[in-house]
Amino acid sequence: MNSFTAPQYAQDGQGIPAGPCTMVIFGAAGDLAKRMLIPAIYNLARSKLLPDQFAVVGVSFEPYSSEEFRQRATENMHQFSAGSVNQDSWAWLVNRMYYVSGDFRDAGLYAKLEAALEQVQKDAGTEGNCLFYLAVSPEFFPLVIQHLGAVGLAREDAHTWKRVVIEKPFGHDLASAIALNHSVGEVLKETQTYRMDHYLGKETVQNLLAFRFANGIFEPVWNRRYVDHVQVTVAEELGVELRGGYYETAGALRDMVPNHIFQLITLTAMEPPISFEAQAVHDEQIKVLRAIQAFSPERVLDHAVRGQYGEGLIGNKHVAAYRAEPHVAPDSQTPTYVAMALQIDSWRWAGVPFYLRTGKRMARRVTQVVIRFRRPPLVLFRKTSVDTVTPNELVINIQPDEGISLNFEAKVPGPVVRLGAVNMDFQYSDYFGTTPSTGYETLIYDCMMGDPTLFQRADMVEAGWSVVQPVLDVWKALPPRDFPNYTAGSWGPLQADELLRRDGREWRDPTRGAPHHVPGASSAAPTSTH
Ligand code: BG6
Repeated sequence: MNSFTAPQYAQDGQGIPAGPCTMVIFGAAGDLAKRMLIPAIYNLARSKLLPDQFAVVGVSFEPYSSEEFRQRATENMHQFSAGSVNQDSWAWLVNRMYYVSGDFRDAGLYAKLEAALEQVQKDAGTEGNCLFYLAVSPEFFPLVIQHLGAVGLAREDAHTWKRVVIEKPFGHDLASAIALNHSVGEVLKETQTYRMDHYLGKETVQNLLAFRFANGIFEPVWNRRYVDHVQVTVAEELGVELRGGYYETAGALRDMVPNHIFQLITLTAMEPPISFEAQAVHDEQIKVLRAIQAFSPERVLDHAVRGQYGEGLIGNKHVAAYRAEPHVAPDSQTPTYVAMALQIDSWRWAGVPFYLRTGKRMARRVTQVVIRFRRPPLVLFRKTSVDTVTPNELVINIQPDEGISLNFEAKVPGPVVRLGAVNMDFQYSDYFGTTPSTGYETLIYDCMMGDPTLFQRADMVEAGWSVVQPVLDVWKALPPRDFPNYTAGSWGPLQADELLRRDGREWRDPTRGAPHHVPGASSAAPTSTH
């Protein structure tokens, strides 16, 4: 079963319920479980996508009883759920929740878990199928998996499956990702391993595939002959909040690029897969990563920019500099911003730069992929007042205003030949409405259904790290001297503008929206610049 080939699920949200299973959440008392996982499981329950033979077993250090766990889950659900909580659906779910407390390092915990699972499986009829979700700090990934292996909880047989979801970050660099893959592989088969990247749970990210390959008109121009360059922007208004401890060891490059941004880039750049089967999609994604031109140390200096935010204004609110955030060193050299120019050396893309940028505390929260097409020849307009035309742009808004817009030139009415840039604008919400979703629903459901398409394969993770490793190395060897180098509430450091300017290009202003769409009214006035 596959999200793209399950029409009932994809189109009307009804779908077939997953088969019997127990979901075990390691880190059940943590933030991810509270804010995302339990609400996502609840949304699946409400959509009737969970089987009757279903149970959740929370595992954490906190010494709760199952009853206390249920109570806390109920309180959290009311606090974090996006919409109102349907009492019947919640009662259905909460009565299937159990809790086991202990230290992840203690072998005794796993023996306790094994006994609890036996009982739950008997009571709930989950038939021995288990989804283990590691919502824990990354140092526990190999440890928990080794322990699960040691007590035999990860062993599959002809009738039961055991799958493990591993949260991000998968490794800290290339060497640690390889080591983690190795250690995971000692216990789990690749088919049991689900490496999470929550960007793949976003409908608009999945739509990149549908948009490209379900429409005949884009694919013929989706290449170096017609595309001038591609821009990917993942900008956040938030700073590091209370995650300074983690972020100090990660920084913007590790945190966002080899995972989330490379998902956006591979889905934008890949060749059509021969099916939506996981292997076919992953095979094409990895070709893109492997075709990215390697960064030599010189290239890092020229084609990669790092930044860190100083204090500033977001909207009207004054916000502190990164170095003044909790758990951050006062002389921290951790980048909170990165911009890079990538070259994908394939027949489709050679010579077309892919510019990416991501940062915290930027002017606006926006995730966007921009395909900028080549400028047409101007010979026709030689004897008119038009001396340049705005190249066409296709803007794919991943969040927060999910949609797609195509920008093109139109003649401004009147006796003189003048052109204006206009937009065709599609907003998801106009057509499909909005349903409360955490973005984890599809991923959890797919894992229960045994569909790894929206998860990362071992070689993809390593290929992603291989691209950024030279940048990490050079940046480590040459600490930045100018941090903080951008103001909170801006679009990042000036060097990032320079990165494009020297190629004769500039970043698209992500706040530049489509002309306001008034349903039923004639098109909004074009903005004539010529
Ligand atoms: C996480 C990063 O993986 O993604 C965070 O660790 C970042 O630093 C987050 O804020 C962004 O996700 P989203 O869904 O808000 O774009």
